[in-house]
Amino acid sequence: MNAILEVRNLKKNFDIPGGTLHAVDQISFTLAKGKTLGVVGESGCGKSTLGRILVGLLDATDGQIIFQGRDITRVKKAQRKALRREMQMIFQDPLSSLDPRLCTMELIAEPLEIFKVCPTRAELEQRVRELMDMVGISEHMMYAYPHELDGGRRQRIGIARALALDPAFLVCDEPVSALDVSIQAQVLNLLRELQRARGLTYLFITHDLSVVKHISDDILVMYMGQMVEEASSKELFRTPMHPYTQGLLSAIPVPNIHHKRRRVIMEGEITSPVNLKPGCRFAARCPHACNRCRQEQPALLELEPGHFVACHLALELRGDAAAYENTAQ
Ligand SMILES: Nc1ncnc2c1ncn2[C@@H]1O[C@H](COP(=O)(O)OP(=O)(O)O)[C@@H](O)[C@H]1O
Ligand SMILES: [Mg+2]
Repeated sequence: MNAILEVRNLKKNFDIPGGTLHAVDQISFTLAKGKTLGVVGESGCGKSTLGRILVGLLDATDGQIIFQGRDITRVKKAQRKALRREMQMIFQDPLSSLDPRLCTMELIAEPLEIFKVCPTRAELEQRVRELMDMVGISEHMMYAYPHELDGGRRQRIGIARALALDPAFLVCDEPVSALDVSIQAQVLNLLRELQRARGLTYLFITHDLSVVKHISDDILVMYMGQMVEEASSKELFRTPMHPYTQGLLSAIPVPNIHHKRRRVIMEGEITSPVNLKPGCRFAARCPHACNRCRQEQPALLELEPGHFVACHLALELRGDAAAYENTAQ
């Protein structure tokens, strides 16, 4: 595999008044060039923190990040700036990530000006026009301000800014979560087309599994800072092995009335990963939890080729998962 990014045992702790919050806890994965890794989990499970560490907006507490064969975990400021050309982030809410005082032209020109990519004003304008065309914003919106545009167009500006410096790797942090469903599909299609045309690699973060199904090659499921399952997208949707993934999947509405899914109800509250007790972090909400789950933290094991699961009961539950696809309620 031609890996562009390798992440090994990545950790991020935040010291908070109540103790230590383990926001990202031992995350490892390898991402091949031109592919998409979907990162899924409920709000607060550490997805954005992971994305921010990868692009250098936060420092890791521990672990290693190898990007294009180079260890970039602790790089100096000047190298970090150079890396910013290669790694970019697209944010969830374009209205809060775009400066409201700048028009489309100025917003897209900003990264080009910071990196002094275009020697003349004419070249700068030409490059902005190219980027607007690439992301599907028509020319008459060149001098419009963010509040005058709809959510989809604002996100297209966010994408144009991220692409301005021709990066190799993009962290897309819930890029369609704030958009209407019809617009979500358009923006997802745009991201897919750009990936194909430019060989981009994506880490695609979302709390909504249905959004990543078609865009991801592999999917990593996070719970309270940890990986609980990782597999190819196809395999994860066909044979989810972790009770948490099964719960997330069963919450997706199925459009076919003849295909009923048994809903797995996850009880209890998600708590923060602060001052952790021993045992599986999901045990308090897991419908299958036994004594061992409350005492011993499960390791992430490769239970099928390329399919990793952290659950003591995964092998027993696998039969359950296969049955669950076609079970009537
Ligand atoms: N700067 C920070 N200081 C303290 N806690 C933080 C900070 N940033 C994030 N957290 C906490 O880390 C956890 C993960 O947050 P985040 O990565 O934003 O989750 P997600 O993107 O999955 O919703 C949450 O419990 C959040 O409150
Ligand atoms: Mg987030």
